[in-house]
Amino acid sequence: LDFLHKKLCDSLSRYSFARTSEYVRDSLANELLDEAKRLQRDGKLKDAGMNKGNYLYRIQKKHRGDKMLWVTSLSDSEVANCFKLYLKEMRKLREKLNFGIPGLCLDGKISIQLAFYPGGGARYLRHFDAFKPQKEKTDLNSQTRKITAILYLNPGWNEDENGGELRSYFCQPTKKFYDYVVRSNDKNEHYIDTSPLFNNLVLFFSDTIEHEVLPCNTNRYALTCWF
Ligand code: OGA
Ligand code: MN
Repeated sequence: LDFLHKKLCDSLSRYSFARTSEYVRDSLANELLDEAKRLQRDGKLKDAGMNKGNYLYRIQKKHRGDKMLWVTSLSDSEVANCFKLYLKEMRKLREKLNFGIPGLCLDGKISIQLAFYPGGGARYLRHFDAFKPQKEKTDLNSQTRKITAILYLNPGWNEDENGGELRSYFCQPTKKFYDYVVRSNDKNEHYIDTSPLFNNLVLFFSDTIEHEVLPCNTNRYALTCWF
């Protein structure tokens, strides 16, 4: 493995979390952003909440204020070339994770979701992306979401003013955590915040890292991939 992927695998193994800047070519990230904006402008993204129109929906809306589109559910002719290239990148990444983290065995289908937060305080409350399989069914390989990979697409993001950080919580206090700044709250929970900077990639174990998107004051685009 190359240095970057070694580091990502090492961080994932130790902390169930990893991140890096400049993951794909900037030109690809730019194409992904242009396509994301086009899809958003054309109204292809739908509220991520469910049960539209009723009370539950309004609660859901507070809970999760993004709009989203399953890129991997589009028909082949609807999928822009840049998304196909990105899917290829994610397949390569998956191979590298399988190689660098023994026993991981990621196979299954890769799903990609485009998410857009329209600002105005939109957020996504604390959650896991997957749940640990029950004791009786410890067939880890039957789990559909093992790793979450998020690529952020926000050039010129103002970290002081725009909000919208990804806050990731860690079970054990980890003082030394590469160059990440670990904070803790009054419940003595430890977390690190990641701003959704252009072409930054975050990886974590979907059933291990609880996370949230803090209120966001401006447009925020992300491509999330599960494998
Ligand atoms: C999600 C999610 C985080 C982010 O879509 O499940 O938690 O930073 N996204 O966009
Ligand atoms: Mn999530």
